[in-house]
Amino acid sequence: MTNLVIEHYADNINKTPAVVLALEEWLESYRNGYSDDVMNIFWDDSALVAYRDGDPIGVIIYRKLSWMKTIHVAIGYVRPQARRSGVYTTLWQAMVSKTQELKFLTITGTTHVNNIDMQAVMQKLNRPLFAYTYNFEVPKT
Ligand SMILES: CC(C)(COP(=O)(O)OP(=O)(O)OC[C@H]1O[C@@H](n2cnc3c(N)ncnc32)[C@H](O)[C@@H]1OP(=O)(O)O)[C@@H](O)C(=O)NCCC(=O)NCCS
Repeated sequence: MTNLVIEHYADNINKTPAVVLALEEWLESYRNGYSDDVMNIFWDDSALVAYRDGDPIGVIIYRKLSWMKTIHVAIGYVRPQARRSGVYTTLWQAMVSKTQELKFLTITGTTHVNNIDMQAVMQKLNRPLFAYTYNFEVPKT
């Protein structure tokens, strides 16, 4: 991929473009009805950010579940104008390499049941569906 550079931010995404990209992802997902009204990131998460010609265009934000030797992907996002050109695939390959470096065993991630675009991408990247998540909104007292 031409001019694509992947930067890694370990255990601290504060003041990095990962936060801006995460906010864009949350806004898009929220408007599509895929997301809760609270963003799911922590300052001490890690991130891989894709830059093209110096501009941040895509991100994977992840956290290490060390006791399980598992990486949990919290956010995956590519800016609309950069989609369908392999940016997320390149980020995913970097995520796999990072996981190998850490000697972790698996990478998990969730997506909304109606987010069929992301589900198609997961399938393309050989990430099989292996669980259903059920939710219960507790009635307010
Ligand atoms: C999902 C997303 C990250 C994919 O990024 P991307 O850079 O466009 O993905 P890639 O170009 O690397 O595509 C990877 C593969 O999935 C396929 N794909 C990508 N978008 C697709 C879509 N909307 N529908 C079907 N297949 C799709 C590509 O064709 C490619 O397959 P190929 O290698 O056989 O050509 C991006 O569309 C996005 O940010 N969506 C909005 C945010 C979102 O829903 N994030 C996930 C929240 S859980």
